[in-house]
Amino acid sequence: MPTQHVQIVMSSHVNGAGRLFGGQLMEWIDVVAAVAARRHTRSDVTLAAVDALEFIAPVHMNDTVLLSADVTWTGRTSLEVCVETFVEHLTGRRQLVNRAYLVFVAVDDAGKPRQIPPLTVTTAAQRQEWQQAEVRRAHRLGQRQFGQSKAPGETDA
Ligand SMILES: CC(C)(COP(=O)(O)OP(=O)(O)OC[C@H]1O[C@@H](n2cnc3c(N)ncnc32)[C@H](O)[C@@H]1OP(=O)(O)O)[C@@H](O)C(=O)NCCC(=O)NCCS
Repeated sequence: MPTQHVQIVMSSHVNGAGRLFGGQLMEWIDVVAAVAARRHTRSDVTLAAVDALEFIAPVHMNDTVLLSADVTWTGRTSLEVCVETFVEHLTGRRQLVNRAYLVFVAVDDAGKPRQIPPLTVTTAAQRQEWQQAEVRRAHRLGQRQFGQSKAPGETDA
């Protein structure tokens, strides 16, 4: 079952042009995804990576926004969560405005990674998401290796 968050866009959430701040949406995405990760792992989690944060269409003041988060992949201590954001029109029609993938790591009291339960994949759609998640993971781990090399002038603390 997805973890969901529903929100009416208020004046404090928009810029001068009446459009939702991207950073505000990212905060809602982070929270709903973290709750999905906590529910799956039954553990505290920390955010390790965010990718493919794609803003497909604008969101405006007074729109009803629905965020829906699903676990798509699990590893030994990490898991991927997909968050889809929709504008829900008054007719009930839902329009996809953003899709994001986030990786969380389950952590113990010392902040060290801890083992998590595997995701049970039952449907063809879930299997396809899993396969695509494996591709995204390989890409991320490649980026991670690249990102961990020191920048010019950077030294160990
Ligand atoms: C995330 C964190 C706990 C990982 O710790 P670590 O000692 O590097 O742990 P490991 O290298 O053993 O990795 C643990 C798992 O995370 C995964 N992982 C770590 N960084 C990752 C990244 N950038 N992308 C994808 N997966 C990543 C590893 O593949 C591993 O997964 P697995 O156990 O399912 O195979 C650590 O880097 C951390 O605390 N980072 C800061 C997190 C934070 O403050 N988040 C809030 C952001 S404001």
